[in-house]
Amino acid sequence: MAETITVTDNRTGESVEIPIVDGGVDAAEWRKLMPGTWFYDPAFMTTAATSSGITELDGEAGILRYQGYPIEQLAEHSSYLEVAYLLIHGELPTEDQYSVWNHEITYHTFIHENVRKRFMEGFHYDAHPMGMLVSALAALSTFYREAKDIQDPEIRDKQIVRLIAKMPTLAACAYRFGVGMPFVYPDNSLDFTSNFLSMMFKVAEPRFDANPVLSKALDTLFILHADHEQNCSTTAMRVIGSAHADPYVASAGAAAALYGPRHGGANEAVVKMLTEIGSYENVEPFIESVKEGKGRLQGFGHRVYKSYDPRARIVKQTADQVFEVTGKNPLLDIALKLEEVALNDDYFVSRKLYPNVDFYSGLIYQAMKFPVDMFPVLFAIPRVSGWLAHWGEMLAQSSKIARPRQLYVGAEVRDYVPMDARA
Ligand code: ACO
Repeated sequence: MAETITVTDNRTGESVEIPIVDGGVDAAEWRKLMPGTWFYDPAFMTTAATSSGITELDGEAGILRYQGYPIEQLAEHSSYLEVAYLLIHGELPTEDQYSVWNHEITYHTFIHENVRKRFMEGFHYDAHPMGMLVSALAALSTFYREAKDIQDPEIRDKQIVRLIAKMPTLAACAYRFGVGMPFVYPDNSLDFTSNFLSMMFKVAEPRFDANPVLSKALDTLFILHADHEQNCSTTAMRVIGSAHADPYVASAGAAAALYGPRHGGANEAVVKMLTEIGSYENVEPFIESVKEGKGRLQGFGHRVYKSYDPRARIVKQTADQVFEVTGKNPLLDIALKLEEVALNDDYFVSRKLYPNVDFYSGLIYQAMKFPVDMFPVLFAIPRVSGWLAHWGEMLAQSSKIARPRQLYVGAEVRDYVPMDARA
């Protein structure tokens, strides 16, 4: 069978055969054969904006792989730092490569004192930590001016290390400012996640040793959130990067996209929803109200996954481990009951609505004593490695600036009217 589609232009009666390449239509071929005819696709529902070799996602089959490695295996055997290396470099590191990588990240965790004193401490007392993070990322661009030289691979690598390393420090700094606690400097003797927990929760003790179960659980969540192919924030990163902006401002733009409640804020919405439901008995009436169109079941459904989100399964297991240490989050019973009722209800089954990664992650964060406004920040810490992997891939593969077409629907041409003559 020919790998083409035939398109007939009924205005002219002309037919052209358009080749199908890798299962889709190559716009370059389309432009050649159908000049002037374009697609209207505002949310990119039918448009692949790039080819990518980083993350493979099959939403129908519930498959998620980084550089070919199944997410389940990475969550079980790997660490976030190793996964970050994999996303950026395309291969798992050897022992020597890992040791260099780990050392570099560990020794770049400090932030310039002026980032803290002039920027972070300059925010209003009740600033949202995600707003602080977005701004601080952009501010880093002014501290590392060589970052503008994006064509130099050594300079690029240096900024990648700095960004991955400094995210937890900026995140913890934003949190501590908000609760009026003094800034905690990074402890280079701790691993990535334990160091973050130390910067978050250390009080007066000389050294903060996080509970290893909690540290491991957070590391697992970091692995699960590190990349998710062409999601909204990654697309923002690629678009901004295509203008050859430096990686700090590009990451700030990506983080701004993640700040949106449709993207990085769903786990907060889940916690709010569960709190409002309040008790086991209210679950079924709540489900009925969702079916009547009064709101959505937060943490359910996904644009891409039309079967169980593979990350949700891992998060659920992680939740069990965390609750053994912290005690059970009282909202868990409501969540489990909601899941059970929804998965047996034709409304949700027929629409292929399953729990997504955010259904249980908020419960874990809450049990670990993170406030809800830190949830998007916790998402951003690992996602920066995915953004940077895509940024590097984009620079290597494309020389064109991202610039979509538009369908103009505004006024026809008209003459300027002086203000005193306007109706
Ligand atoms: N609860 C109830 N009904 C839902 C839900 C839900 N959570 N999600 C979708 N539906 C219904 C819609 O009402 C619609 O029904 P209809 O065909 O009768 O009109 C049908 O399922 C399809 O819904 P769409 O909105 O077209 O699906 P889309 O793929 O555009 O939306 C989204 C995906 C935004 C994630 C949606 O499922 C949702 O709002 N979920 C809740 C919020 C959430 O958990 N977001 C986190 C996503 S994961 C992440 O970003 C990290």
